[in-house]
Amino acid sequence: MSKDQAQALRELAHPRRSRRARIIAVTSGKGGVGKTNVAVNLAVRLTQMGRCVVLLDADLGTANADVLCNLSPTATLAHVVAGRMSLSEALVEGPGGFGLIPGASGLAQMAALGAYERDRLVDQMQQLELVADILLVDTGAGIGPNVLGFVVGADQRLVVTTPEPTAVTDAYAVIKTAARQRRDLDVRILVNMAKDVAEAKAVYERIRAVCARFLDLPVQYAGCIPVDPRVASAVRRRRPFVLEYPQTPASACIGQLAHRMDRHAVEPQGHGLLRRMAMWLAG
Ligand SMILES: Nc1ncnc2c1ncn2[C@@H]1O[C@H](COP(=O)(O)OP(=O)(O)O)[C@@H](O)[C@H]1O
Ligand SMILES: [Mg+2]
Repeated sequence: MSKDQAQALRELAHPRRSRRARIIAVTSGKGGVGKTNVAVNLAVRLTQMGRCVVLLDADLGTANADVLCNLSPTATLAHVVAGRMSLSEALVEGPGGFGLIPGASGLAQMAALGAYERDRLVDQMQQLELVADILLVDTGAGIGPNVLGFVVGADQRLVVTTPEPTAVTDAYAVIKTAARQRRDLDVRILVNMAKDVAEAKAVYERIRAVCARFLDLPVQYAGCIPVDPRVASAVRRRRPFVLEYPQTPASACIGQLAHRMDRHAVEPQGHGLLRRMAMWLAG
């Protein structure tokens, strides 16, 4: 039997999903704006809504989703990149039941991976795309090549900013850099640590106007999360705030965000994230 025939028989016995996961990159221009908290709590909330969610901690500089989840994984993305294990072997169960691929610092050399290593990683990640409904990617901050690969390759980008002028200008820099690589960017702005909804909407409006004028790019409003002392106290307890304090205002906002992201689900198109990312990294 030829290799192709064997594969065809396997697929008949175990039909592959016709859809691949929707990939949402959670990103920002500046660090410390709340990306990881948003990614982890959104993962928990979407799981509560019945979605199969995998969170990939791809912040190659300061990976810490595992810390927020009180996990001490032995295997990380670094082992996968080194070819020492598969992604599914590195997958651990996060609080509330989502799947987490723990990140690893010191992977900044990923852009310099050889073609063989990159293909291996991409193939592994494509398998992940076939089992999950939603693949959330917590990227690093800024516009380095690794971050940009994920930001450009994803189906949607959730750009997290605070009302601080530096966070806002850095958020714009990421959008601008990504828009140069790809025209059809789905960009949503999430304003974290806002005083109130009016302040968040004003921040969004500033970014929207500049993106429309200078990039000819429509960007959408994803919502806001207020400054909430329960967020920091959940971090200290190493529990997602939506589980630790389900009634706190930040949790209500994550709930709205999850419903909005789910409702506005786009049907993933074309190549998966990692194939696009690989193409992009390969230049
Ligand atoms: N809505 C919020 N209200 C209060 N504090 C927050 C809020 N969001 C984030 N923080 C604080 O900011 C810190 C950094 O958040 P984190 O998610 O690690 O940011 P990033 O991943 O962007 O670097 C958290 O440890 C928390 O103390
Ligand atoms: Mg982070």
